[in-house]
Amino acid sequence: MLRTHTCGELRMDHIGQEVQLSGWIQRSRDLGGLTFIDLRDRYGITQLTFNMDENASLCEEARKLGREFVIQVNGLVRERSSKNKQIPTGEIEIDVKDIKILNASKTPPFTIETETDGGEELRMKYRYLDLRRPPLQDKIILRSKLALQIRNYLAGDGFIEVETPYLIKSTPEGARDFVVPSRMHEGQFYALPQSPQTFKQLLMVSGYDKYFQIVKCFRDEDLRADRQPEFTQIDCEMSFVEQEDVLATFEEMMRKVVKEIKGIELAAFPRMSYAEAMEKYGSDKPDLRFGMEFNNLNELAKGKGFNVFDQSEVVLGINAEGCAEYSRKQLDALTDYVKTPQVGAKGLVYVKLNEDGSIKSSVDKFYSAENLQEWADAMGANKGDLLLVLSGEDAPTRSAMNALRLHMGTELGLRDKDVFAPLWVVDFPLLEKDEESGHFHAMHHPFTSPKIVDLEKLESAPGEVRANAYDMVINGVELGGGSIRIADRKMQEKMLSLLGFSEEEAKAQFGFLMDAFEYGTPPHGGIAFGFDRICALLGGTDSIRDYIAFPKNNAGRDVMIDAPALIDEEQLDELHLRVKKSI
Ligand code: AMO
Repeated sequence: MLRTHTCGELRMDHIGQEVQLSGWIQRSRDLGGLTFIDLRDRYGITQLTFNMDENASLCEEARKLGREFVIQVNGLVRERSSKNKQIPTGEIEIDVKDIKILNASKTPPFTIETETDGGEELRMKYRYLDLRRPPLQDKIILRSKLALQIRNYLAGDGFIEVETPYLIKSTPEGARDFVVPSRMHEGQFYALPQSPQTFKQLLMVSGYDKYFQIVKCFRDEDLRADRQPEFTQIDCEMSFVEQEDVLATFEEMMRKVVKEIKGIELAAFPRMSYAEAMEKYGSDKPDLRFGMEFNNLNELAKGKGFNVFDQSEVVLGINAEGCAEYSRKQLDALTDYVKTPQVGAKGLVYVKLNEDGSIKSSVDKFYSAENLQEWADAMGANKGDLLLVLSGEDAPTRSAMNALRLHMGTELGLRDKDVFAPLWVVDFPLLEKDEESGHFHAMHHPFTSPKIVDLEKLESAPGEVRANAYDMVINGVELGGGSIRIADRKMQEKMLSLLGFSEEEAKAQFGFLMDAFEYGTPPHGGIAFGFDRICALLGGTDSIRDYIAFPKNNAGRDVMIDAPALIDEEQLDELHLRVKKSI
């Protein structure tokens, strides 16, 4: 090794020892007779000291070194005269005897310290430099730790890790596929897996009754803070289980992980049906760190001459406790917020329940103080509270109210990163109707089984059939989702036909799975977690990008390696991709 210790290791106990350190120069300070260098590696920072009086030539040499040079030094550990309590090595320094440049560095395009002056795009281009910064290193290390803990938990519970292929045929998870052209088979393409769904089910047929894999998945969809085109799943499947067994196994896994990483003991996860989640929170991933549940005001608010409400399918209110003192400006800002295209409401009605008992609203013309007091009573609101009301068609109003509720939660500081509010959302609908085409598609995926009690409605009212499907949600983030699967050819055929597949199409796309179902398939089910999302949640940030060493930017590009990129003509020909011009 080119070092005896790391830059984060030396303490008072090491005083008097001859040591050798290697690392990067974070910064140097020249104080006339003395030169100090902060030497950094991923373990920490150690101060190197050069004394002009003791060794002028070495001191001169040290002064010439630039930021991010990689150096190796030999020296003596000694106590610092002025100690730095901010860092673990702050009580000692190295009295350097010898210095060796291992490699020079150009001046970096941004400061490589905890706080940096580099903009997002620049840091993405020089990701390898950004990754030197402690906040990113902490995140990448957290990811590594988490992966290990999850592996240990699952292995300890008898799960085995099996790799499944990346060059496959489309597996529908609701996004577009990334495809890979085949050189050997002209005009044919592999698809990269959106998930290993069909393979893990085949492994159940093969008898590997507890499978997991920490695996890359690829989805060509629009990016958001919690979405990347390639991301990692903790993908799991079990045989001879019912929904309760799957929930118990993975609730315990999450509880262990949160305990080990955050030291927090989570209570049993509450369950909420999809219907209840939509009713109370307008979202299938409610953030339960705070209340502010929706109240349906249809009965009380309609029929009083206010046209907007009278013509609405639904009038919904939330109670922002203690916010009656919101100023005109604050209320205008909320109104502007709900009118933004991403929220999509037409306007916002407010009711202030003033501390002095008076009531002031934006609809005073239509509603008496008594009327408004009825709203307040129905919503459990008190003096000092502010009611916020939206109306319109049911689905978009719920969605807008969800956005407003989260916005208020953030504004009022109710979404503390160190509080964890998990739940299972269960009883999802099996199918979802696409309003434009009128077609049904699978809400989870086509391999999810319907609830037996709802089976009779499969033909007559497919939209009402519930699935044996579940999501784990923490703090408003969908961390994972899964289901108990169909394990029977006939049922799978029926499902695919409901989804609009012809018999031939179903056979061509999923024949291999349905064939397998005919050779002794155990009842099975599973779940997959978004590993990047678990990391971000436990790391306390919203974006998963920082937990991925080399992520894509918002436009799906890797700006460091400059991908996607054109390929040369020869390669296009080889892959049969060049449009041949006919003469
Ligand atoms: P699903 O599609 O719900 O289920 O995906 C499982 C989990 O993966 C995470 N996730 C993502 N994370 C980052 N970027 C993305 N683009 C992205 N897309 C999904 C989410 C999600 O909950 N095969 C099924 C699982 C099963 O039924 O067992 C599946 O993939 O956290």
